[in-house]
Amino acid sequence: MAATKSPKEFIGDLTQEFRERMRPLADEHYNEEYFDAIGGPEAVVEQEFPAQAWREFYYGTLPPCRQADLIFRHGEPYHRDRDLIVGLGLQIKDEIKHARVISNIAEQFGYGADLATWEAEEHPDGYYETLTEVGPKSVDHEKPHLVSAAFQCSTEIVAAFQVQNMADYMGNHGYDEIAATLDEVASDEGDHIHVGRKIATRFAEPEDYDEMREVSEAKFESVRQYLLDLEPHN
Ligand SMILES: [Fe+2]
Ligand SMILES: [Fe+2]
Repeated sequence: MAATKSPKEFIGDLTQEFRERMRPLADEHYNEEYFDAIGGPEAVVEQEFPAQAWREFYYGTLPPCRQADLIFRHGEPYHRDRDLIVGLGLQIKDEIKHARVISNIAEQFGYGADLATWEAEEHPDGYYETLTEVGPKSVDHEKPHLVSAAFQCSTEIVAAFQVQNMADYMGNHGYDEIAATLDEVASDEGDHIHVGRKIATRFAEPEDYDEMREVSEAKFESVRQYLLDLEPHN
C-alpha cells in the first residue's frame, strides 16, 4: 500500500492534474472557432471582454475574501499565517486590476462594461444566471483549503487558459497591444495558484483529501457544463 501523501504532495498532484484537464477543456470550447462564430475580434471585445471582466471580479475576489475570513477565524492571521493573508490580499488586488483593464478595453471600443450594472445583454438569455450559479460553489466551504481545492488549485486555472486563448486570437487579428495586456493578466494567475497551494499545504490533513477531491471535481463539472453551454451569439 502506498504511503499517505503529505498535504504538499497531495495538493501539488491535484493542481497538476487539473492543469492537464483544464487546458483541453478551454481549447475545446473557448477557441478560435468560438470567437469566429461570435463574429470576429470586435465582436469578441463586445461580448467576451465584459464577461471576462465580470468573472475576474466576481469569481476572482470572492474565494480569497472567504479564505482570508476563514484564516482569521481558524488560523494565525497575525503570526504564522500572515504570508497567506498578504498573498490573498494581493490576489484580490490583481483580480480587481484584471477586471478593470479588461473592461477598459471594452469601453475603449464603445461597449459598456460597468460591472455595477452589466447583465450580459450581448449573451443569450440565462447567461447571467449561469455565471452567478457557478461562482458561489468555490466558497461554500468551512475550511480554507477546501476553497483552494475548489478554486485556485482547480478551476481558477481555466481562467488563465481562457484569457490566453483570447490573447492569441486578438494577436492573430492584429490587436497586438490588447494581446499583450491579456497575456499580462494571464501571467498573474500563477501567483494565485501558488497562494492556494500554500493554504492547502498548511491547513489540510490527510482526512480532508477525499473532500478536497470531491469539491474540486464538482467545481470542474460545473465549469465544464458552463463551457458546454456557451453558444455563439449572432
Ligand atoms: Fe484574474
Ligand atoms: Fe486569478
